[in-house]
Amino acid sequence: MKTIRLILLKSLVLLLFVNCKTLPAEPAKATGVVAEKAMVVSAREEASAIGAAILKQGGNAFDAMVATEMALVVAYPFAGNVGGGGFMVYRKADGSIGALDYREKAPLSATKDMYLDSLGNVIPDMSTKGATAVGVPGTVAGIIEVHKKFGSLPLKDILAPVIALAENGVIVTEKQAARFEKVREVILEVNDSVTTFPVDSKAGDIVKYPALATTLSRIAEQGRDGFYKGETAKVLATFIQENGGFVTEEDLEQYQAQWREPVVFDYKDLHIISMSPPSSGGMTINQILKMMEPYDIAKFGHNSEKTVQLFVEAARRAYADRNYWLGDPDFVDIPMKELLSDFYIKERMANFSFDKATKSEDIHEGSIQMSESMETTHYSIVDAEGNAISVTTTLNGAYGSKLYCDELGFFLNNEMDDFSSKAGVPNMFGLVGAKANSIAPGKRMLSSMTPTIVEKDGKLWMVVGTPGGSTIITAVAQTILNGYEFNMSMQEAVDAPRFHHQWLPDVVIFEENGFSKEHKDNLKAKGYNINEDRTPIIGKVDAIRVLPDGTLEGGADHRGDDTAVGF
Ligand code: GLY
Repeated sequence: MKTIRLILLKSLVLLLFVNCKTLPAEPAKATGVVAEKAMVVSAREEASAIGAAILKQGGNAFDAMVATEMALVVAYPFAGNVGGGGFMVYRKADGSIGALDYREKAPLSATKDMYLDSLGNVIPDMSTKGATAVGVPGTVAGIIEVHKKFGSLPLKDILAPVIALAENGVIVTEKQAARFEKVREVILEVNDSVTTFPVDSKAGDIVKYPALATTLSRIAEQGRDGFYKGETAKVLATFIQENGGFVTEEDLEQYQAQWREPVVFDYKDLHIISMSPPSSGGMTINQILKMMEPYDIAKFGHNSEKTVQLFVEAARRAYADRNYWLGDPDFVDIPMKELLSDFYIKERMANFSFDKATKSEDIHEGSIQMSESMETTHYSIVDAEGNAISVTTTLNGAYGSKLYCDELGFFLNNEMDDFSSKAGVPNMFGLVGAKANSIAPGKRMLSSMTPTIVEKDGKLWMVVGTPGGSTIITAVAQTILNGYEFNMSMQEAVDAPRFHHQWLPDVVIFEENGFSKEHKDNLKAKGYNINEDRTPIIGKVDAIRVLPDGTLEGGADHRGDDTAVGF
């Protein structure tokens, strides 16, 4: 009996040691915008302000989602969209959770080899540029589904300020003007040099979007049918096909958003709720954090050699699984339980050592008994009742396929590139896919979007997400670790320098600032390949932290025009 008690005591001590971090004296003081009751953090001030105004006039987080999502189409056409898709994770004030998948789908005429030539090689640009790259858009179905299930204000009232924004115009920011400049030639090339999209605008110009205002008015009046049927659907399908694409009126009419069970797991004393397949975000972040959980990361230090090594090795193994096993759950069987089991996670890290990097060529998908930048966008919302939503939405590339429908006033996605056009050939994010993510009619392409909500002590603690293609997952994981392990404020956690690894290519990417030459040299000496030529921005995180007194701290990423607005 005594022996059993001793074993139990030892196990308890071990459990406490494994599952707890070195606790800080008190939670980090806020350094970002603080609001008493409610907040929206998004990529543009106009969108955050419209979302927050809806909250102030009594709308809930779901009403604010509809407003913010549509305001981003006007103010942030780079990624805000009606021609793309996205994912939403929610946690209501009563603790109930859920997720909505409004990811694009392959057109009904799609085939597995549609982007291959007669020799079986991937045809350059076909899945990334112009009408051939366009998947069936899901965003409007997504917001209408959310509004139907949870909305409290009339759709017309929610969309009125967005339509006014499109009619009255939006000021072009410095960063936006730089982006216009960068993609101007491609937009003109794809659209035969004829486009009403303001590619020549300069910072400070006010740009109006009358055609988009009309499209939004149809959605405000007719809901889903205002996009997927009638005038908009007819114009859209004809436009895509005239430009050589595959989306038909039937594709549009058949599109449905899908409610999904989110991925949920515990990391030490956090409870994390994230997006399930067809996004890889939740499963991959689950694997990464669980592989890291046994270590006292707070003691290692933020972005220290040990922390970087542990994170990279966990990411290496998790991305290898992601690329092999994951796809649209409506089409492929994903061994979720097995991939996320404690036993499997432990086995996966069995060959990890702080002495030496594992080579990606020595890691393959586990057996069971992702070059892009920021062309997606994320926003986080908490309302006065405590309902929280985390939404990541995208056109895939910057301005998607670059195909702009003048008559309707919006860009079309190039999401078809998120499928694996050919097993083993990397897509535009350098992600190497497999059979599970091959193209099929009506199938959804695998995503990395990771809209996430985190509970601490059973209460809402953080709402977080980011754009960044394949880097989304690692940026979200690092932001959570920054807040939890390194006790940073929300704004500090968002702004802190980030690094990324995704199994293949076998390279670790560091942002420009925050990692010394000595730090990188030490990692190189242990066998890590480091990307020295390119130091891109990794993610653009927009997040909210609930402070101990119940107020909200926004973390709006300084890497963009991102802004937190609350009251
Ligand atoms: N288009 C980027 C993603 O969904 O991961």
